Amino acid sequence: MKIILTVNGTRHDLDVQPLRRLLDVLREDLGLTGTKEGCGEGECGACAVHIDGVLLNSCQVPVYQAHGRSILTVEGLGTPEEPDPLQVAFVEKGAVQCGFCTPGLLMASRALLAAKPAPTVAEIRAGLAGNLCRCTGYGRVVEAVQSAAGKKAVCAAGDPAEVGPPVSSAADAVQVFMPNSLTEALAALADESCTIMAGGTDLMAAFHAGMPLPGRVLDISGIQELSGIVMTPRGVSLGAAVSYAELLDATEVTTPYPALAEAARLVGAPAVQNAGTIGGNLVNASPGADLVPVLAALDGVVVLASQQGERRLPVTAFHRGYRNCDLRPDELVQAVELPQPADGLRQAFFKAGTRRAQSIARVNLACCARVDAQGRLTDVRLVAGSVGPTIVVLDETMAWLKGRPLAQKDLAVEAGRLAAAEITPIDDVRATAEYRHTVLGNLVKRFVESL
Ligand SMILES: Cc1cc2nc3c(=O)[nH]c(=O)nc-3n(C[C@H](O)[C@H](O)[C@H](O)COP(=O)(O)OP(=O)(O)OC[C@H]3O[C@@H](n4cnc5c(N)ncnc54)[C@H](O)[C@@H]3O)c2cc1C
Ligand code: FES
Ligand code: FES
Repeated sequence: MKIILTVNGTRHDLDVQPLRRLLDVLREDLGLTGTKEGCGEGECGACAVHIDGVLLNSCQVPVYQAHGRSILTVEGLGTPEEPDPLQVAFVEKGAVQCGFCTPGLLMASRALLAAKPAPTVAEIRAGLAGNLCRCTGYGRVVEAVQSAAGKKAVCAAGDPAEVGPPVSSAADAVQVFMPNSLTEALAALADESCTIMAGGTDLMAAFHAGMPLPGRVLDISGIQELSGIVMTPRGVSLGAAVSYAELLDATEVTTPYPALAEAARLVGAPAVQNAGTIGGNLVNASPGADLVPVLAALDGVVVLASQQGERRLPVTAFHRGYRNCDLRPDELVQAVELPQPADGLRQAFFKAGTRRAQSIARVNLACCARVDAQGRLTDVRLVAGSVGPTIVVLDETMAWLKGRPLAQKDLAVEAGRLAAAEITPIDDVRATAEYRHTVLGNLVKRFVESL
């Protein structure tokens, strides 16, 4: 495929296999070896770059997605004569030892300071949560970012090139379609089966882990109809290609649906949130997915589109089992619709993982409930993740809680006990079944107490 990249201000015309990782093209074809490979799975941040000003892990970007865009790598940060203030601060504060993580940390720090020129320590830690350092320790890195805050950046990303679509070539091992409209996308899906690529955070890691490359890819990232957040008379429609970062920026969503905002905030770390999408989280159908329990607890409806028309399924019916959802090969997820929450609906999302960022849930729980004028519980919804092959709606606990007075003695303790007894989890690499019983019970108890 013939593509054009602007890297650190210089235009490059390249002929590449479209599913190669941007990381490999930067290092092997352009000799920009400052961008490092640590994990190859989006977890360490060593390969972080900016694409059109957005922090992304280059090991997760198929190179065709960078066509026509402006890329900043660590080589474009500062010059030997005039280093970027972050580079100066990292040296002065002793924030570098072996240096392997440093390019990624610098790129993440620069993205953080562009968004928050005077970040708090908590904001710095959150902004750098996707970057692992094995030797220096994060205290000095935080000090370095604080010291560079407010100083003018020295970097040369350059403007994106004015280009048409990328040009496929006969040598491409994979055919890539990048439609601009839903109609074109549905025609491509009806024609022949395609692998749909959205943010690529799951797919690129799977290819790297050895999943065979598909013959045809349908990239949906440029489709307007999938990219918006639309307020409707009933609530909100979230386009399938909306990213976690876009969702978190939309106060019209985060205010009425705080549990959804909390789940999005707890997904991965900033670079994953910038790329990963709502539709990808639904279709990946991982039992530990964070958005899915919330979308189910909020009575979300998945809108599926094909040339045959539209199908609408409750989120609870969309997932049929472990990594299995009700999606035909000629369909894609167009949106998820959420009804307007009832007045006074209390919402919460809890996640128990191995660490604060970048960890897949050992147990998660989305909760909603209202307390009526008589002090009784109504509209109780409890949906758990990572405790079964797919999300588990805690029907028995919900039915037991419904209509009970909040003041009832030991209400929270008993609800927690019931919830723990209601699931049948397994032992796996993330947690034992016993851990999952205990933690889920405690989370339900915590929610009821919070009411
Ligand atoms: C380091 C790391 C940390 C992560 N942390 C978390 C976490 O904390 N919580 C969590 O829930 N997830 C996490 N994930 C998983 C992942 O980021 C999410 O599942 C993400 O939402 C996937 O979206 P995507 O756009 O990147 O999907 P892609 O990788 O593009 O696609 C994933 C799957 O969905 C299909 N697909 C995508 N969009 C559509 C559509 N509109 N219609 C039909 N099919 C579609 C694709 O064909 C593919 O099968 C993490 C991933 C990484 C790499
Ligand atoms: S190499 Fe670890 S995130 Fe890309
Ligand atoms: S300085 Fe060595 S890994 Fe961070």
